[in-house]
Amino acid sequence: MKFATPLAALIAAAAMTAALATPVLADEPGPGGSRPLVPKTGEEVYRYVCQACHMEGGKGAVGAGTFPALANNPKLGTPAFGIYMVEKGKGGMPYFSDSLTPAQVAMVLTYVRTHFGNNYPQPVTEADVRPFAKPPAGGR
Ligand code: HEC
Repeated sequence: MKFATPLAALIAAAAMTAALATPVLADEPGPGGSRPLVPKTGEEVYRYVCQACHMEGGKGAVGAGTFPALANNPKLGTPAFGIYMVEKGKGGMPYFSDSLTPAQVAMVLTYVRTHFGNNYPQPVTEADVRPFAKPPAGGR
């Protein structure tokens, strides 16, 4: 390639660098990207998915609807209860069997069972969740 001026050469070089860099950057999820954030820990699932309704610290809310507290909630002591709620939904509680993987459901339940004043250290596993991981018949 021949360039009329050194500046033109520099611009061309910069453009080529950008062209090479773009495909790599486009594949990186991150703020402002076109891909949704993928929660990778129970805490992230809680913050991205559950917290909107159950609030920070799992304290719940009463307002336009009633969102039960997950903090100090003895019902969470029964793993199948939490699994069933998250996978099948109930009333104003949506089901997440079509949007969270069994691994993510296991992570978030393990997280809420060991935070917010709950002390149920036995982890919920993907194998526990899998039998429930089908959207309820008839849809929402
Ligand atoms: C759109 C709002 C909303 C979101 C998001 C939501 N929930 Fe709920 N959740 C509810 C409502 C409303 C109830 C009460 C349902 C009922 O009993 O009728 C509920 C109930 C529950 C219960 C039962 C509590 C009890 O004491 O009966 C659990 C456990 C629960 N949710 C966990 C979760 C988890 C974990 C997530 C995130 C994966 C989540 N929820 C996301 C609205 C929501």
